Amino acid sequence: MEPRLIDSFHRAIEYVRLSVTDRCDLRCTYCLPENYRDFSEPEHWLTFDEIERVMRAFTELGVRRVRLTGGEPLTRHQLPELAARLRALPHLDDLSLSTNAVQLKKHARALFQAGVQRVNVSLDSLRPERFHAITRGGKLNKVLDGLAAARQAGLRPIKINMVVMKGVNDDEIEDMVNFCAGQDFTLRLIETMPMGDTGRSATDHYLSLEEVRRRLETKFELVPAVMPGGGPARYVSVAGTNLRIGFITPISQHFCETCNRVRLSADGALYLCLGQEDKLELRPLLRQGISDEELKAAIRAAIARKPERHEFREQPRKIVRFMSRTGG
Ligand code: 5AD
Ligand code: SF4
Repeated sequence: MEPRLIDSFHRAIEYVRLSVTDRCDLRCTYCLPENYRDFSEPEHWLTFDEIERVMRAFTELGVRRVRLTGGEPLTRHQLPELAARLRALPHLDDLSLSTNAVQLKKHARALFQAGVQRVNVSLDSLRPERFHAITRGGKLNKVLDGLAAARQAGLRPIKINMVVMKGVNDDEIEDMVNFCAGQDFTLRLIETMPMGDTGRSATDHYLSLEEVRRRLETKFELVPAVMPGGGPARYVSVAGTNLRIGFITPISQHFCETCNRVRLSADGALYLCLGQEDKLELRPLLRQGISDEELKAAIRAAIARKPERHEFREQPRKIVRFMSRTGG
């Protein structure tokens, strides 16, 4: 049997984004409703044994990279233990983490020691009050402490993800460029996506990154750059600095032709596309005692029906789940 996972559009799937919880200690306006309670039940979360089993199957099918994500992954107890178990899988090359960094200060070292190599941190504002408003209660200094701890622990590279919203934080893009250049972070700018009602309201603040790029070009000299394993972001570097800026443009220019990933939710649903509802419910299969061979066959069959692309523009009402279910 061909060991690699190839979908029906000839894309090799080698990357899994693994959501370890849909819960979060923030409530970013574009992601979760303010008083949201309808999280999945902890008894429905895949256990570490179940996650390890699924990820072993994936790595035997050619997956080489895993990103731990959420919700907020640091709210899941014993995350470093899970990281160490995944790190020990023979074929895994890259283990990374996406976090809001609120709790990173206390976990950075243990995560690095467990084998997490690098982090992406969501940070939409460098102004404490604005950060507090966007995240509905977050404290900016916790994130800055988390970033310092990540650097101290040896996590590299550190990437900052900024969701750009017109009239909300677009006046801070230049500040963010200077901050990231000074701290040796990579900056990634992201267009708002209509995920759930929250994401759809945020698209009222949609700003095309093509426009942002033109604006930045009036202040900085941007040189096209490549970033190894860079995924959907298109990178430029800023002349005279080490800074790279990635533009993630799901709306103005989608990048589905080169998609290499699938997403596993905390409760064991394998989502085949960020912008589609197609999925395979793995939890019942795992709990009914499926064999390893059957598990791999089920994954293979699911990959064969991975949709060609998202339809955020054509069908902006389609995706009802919140971003916190699959972590971006
Ligand atoms: N549109 C764009 N980005 C979003 N994120 C969460 N919700 C949305 C949305 N509706 C971002 C977070 C984080 C990443 C995982 O996804 O800010 O950086
Ligand atoms: Fe939490 Fe991330 Fe959603 Fe913000 S975007 S509420 S940090 S899961």
